[in-house]
Amino acid sequence: METYQNRVINPNEYGSLLFDNKEEIAVKNVIKSRKIFRYSKTEYPYTMQFEKQITDKMNIKYCLGVINGTAGLITALNAINIKPKDRILVSSYTYIATALAVKLVGAIPIPMNIDFNNGIDLDDLDKEIDKGCKAVIVTHLQGRCFDLSKIRDKLRKKGIFLIEDACQGFSAKCNEVYAGTYGDIGIYSFQQFKQISSGEGGAIVTNNKEIYERARNYTDMGAVRDRFPNWDSNTCLFGQNYRINNITSAILYEQMKKLDYMHKKQKNSRKNILKKIEIYKISSILYSKDSNGDTGMNIIFFANDEKKIKDIIENTKNKYNVEVRKMWNGLYFDNKLFKDNKLTDKDLKENSCEKTKNIVSKMLVISIPPILSENEENTIANAIVDLKVNNYIY
Ligand SMILES: Cc1ncc(COP(=O)(O)O)c(C=O)c1O
Repeated sequence: METYQNRVINPNEYGSLLFDNKEEIAVKNVIKSRKIFRYSKTEYPYTMQFEKQITDKMNIKYCLGVINGTAGLITALNAINIKPKDRILVSSYTYIATALAVKLVGAIPIPMNIDFNNGIDLDDLDKEIDKGCKAVIVTHLQGRCFDLSKIRDKLRKKGIFLIEDACQGFSAKCNEVYAGTYGDIGIYSFQQFKQISSGEGGAIVTNNKEIYERARNYTDMGAVRDRFPNWDSNTCLFGQNYRINNITSAILYEQMKKLDYMHKKQKNSRKNILKKIEIYKISSILYSKDSNGDTGMNIIFFANDEKKIKDIIENTKNKYNVEVRKMWNGLYFDNKLFKDNKLTDKDLKENSCEKTKNIVSKMLVISIPPILSENEENTIANAIVDLKVNNYIY
């Protein structure tokens, strides 16, 4: 069995690696209080406090904790009143959950090429906007934040909603604007492999009171809640139970307090590794528009040959105990599930997102968790140099 001692140097895990007695005490507090339900009156209102930590940090008016990022996406679509058959433009390179959420409200996900400056390709966007759409979902990737100002301004003029799937981009920012706060509504995930983690968990952020209230009602089975829920108001809707609980929030509350440390540690390790490999002039390393706003949680670079990726992953693991990851195998709509049922031929033929496929088919990620020693940073640097010297990457 894999243990913490023999696992790879750089697991794709972050906040959870820093769990200590702080999370333990917070969870014990909730247990002692016997008030795990988020709307209980309690002396440990962790859910409210955690939501406030986010609104303060992100400089945004409203935050709502939810059970996970997928539920957050479904809630967001309901909060802006998306209806069956509405066309929703979606980043083609995203976790399948983004498009599943669109399908689950009966709407049609239309895949768009990605663009590492603007989030999605602006030409694609112009073409699709002309055909009509209700919302655009842009996915922030791997602890980085795209500058969505151009897209936001374009959509605002046309009354189209901008949703940010910031499940992977929690606490990343670009020019001081946090991922999730550019558009009308942003969604975060706190699943095991995310920057801060409670195993499962999520949150929605928005500056719009009406969207927030609809989202809150939707996650509370559509009710309007004073002390008790009721379904007798004009603002009730058919909703789900996606409420976060106080144990999850207690963990997230303590994780939030470690966030600045995590960023500092990851960024420092990333900087040290990049410094050590500088002389090898690896031109494929992907830098963000505002590298300073990155969480520092990884180094992304590109292989010379897609067919060698399996070797790259295996060799680096065997020789250095360093994990090189390929994020997802292909684009979400290439999965059988979507091919068989979801998109019309017309939509696919018009945009099979070849540009994205060409980019991401060679994209590789090395995680930089917030626990690396100097020795481990050296090992990761050596592993990357090895790939360059052997002409696996450019
Ligand atoms: C881009 C993206 N969107 C959505 C999700 C779904 O989040 P969750 O696993 O919390 O439901 C994830 C999680 O992996 C993700 O990476």
